[in-house]
Amino acid sequence: MDFLSSLELTGRMIRDVFSLADSLKGERRAKPLAGKSVALFFEEPSTRTRVSFEVAVAQLGGTPIYIDARTSQRSRGEELSDTARVLGSYCDFIVVRMNDHDGLETIAKSAPVPVINALTHLEHPTQALADCYTLRERKGSVKGLKVAFVGDIAQNTANSLMVTAAKLGASVSLVGPCGSRPNPVYVREARRHASVTVTESMEKGLDGADALYTDTFVSMGDEAEAARRRRLFMPYQLDRKALSYAKRDAVVMHPLPAHRGEEISADVIDGPHSIVWEQALNKLTIERALLAYLSKRAH
Ligand code: NVA
Repeated sequence: MDFLSSLELTGRMIRDVFSLADSLKGERRAKPLAGKSVALFFEEPSTRTRVSFEVAVAQLGGTPIYIDARTSQRSRGEELSDTARVLGSYCDFIVVRMNDHDGLETIAKSAPVPVINALTHLEHPTQALADCYTLRERKGSVKGLKVAFVGDIAQNTANSLMVTAAKLGASVSLVGPCGSRPNPVYVREARRHASVTVTESMEKGLDGADALYTDTFVSMGDEAEAARRRRLFMPYQLDRKALSYAKRDAVVMHPLPAHRGEEISADVIDGPHSIVWEQALNKLTIERALLAYLSKRAH
């Protein structure tokens, strides 16, 4: 059983992973990955996702093995399907980070073991699970919350967050410039579960929000158009004024790495509304739960 996309999630599956996360949090004796190995195949940079997955696997009794495109035979043109087939014959899971979502699907088709999406250009589904888990911890429940994503609403974290939060009953507000429209596939899926509004108005879009979420203006793979993107998105910086439109107890979220003075102001990310460090820590919590969940189903 792979985990490639937030589109595949059901509310039931999310809640099961969250319950597992609750019971595994602070629990160090459970070793569902004892004797198992997990390949982490990363073609893009990573700090939190890589380390939290490595720690998650180790804490569950397994062995994480990190390889990247630069130092593996991928750098000499090996086909993804060949790499996947062999990694899958050594390891019990493959965790993949690569820009190309089709490439991820090729790996999943070729590998005989479960594959987990650790970010593509389209999605960051484990991040969205960690984000919603953090919201649930903070607010008691995700249901009924207004979650606003501001800035580049056409990228991976926005796609995964809108679908995951909507499946848990949150209404979603996407706030960005008209030069950036959200991906219709994700909006359609999110709308099957909850209301999703799209607006260019910060005041309207953030009004009464319980959570304000932003991410970099220049995602991995978008570097060639960095200057244009910064110009386009700068009016959508999550700053004190933006925060003033939201509820008084609104939380501020960001998947990191953050660029203070670009998508978010320093006083907001380092201020009292920010829960970004809890989010980061909960990546470990959720990855442990997800690995335990998938390993129960796979073996
Ligand atoms: N949208 C960002 C997420 C980083 C965790 C990127 O793709 O670079």
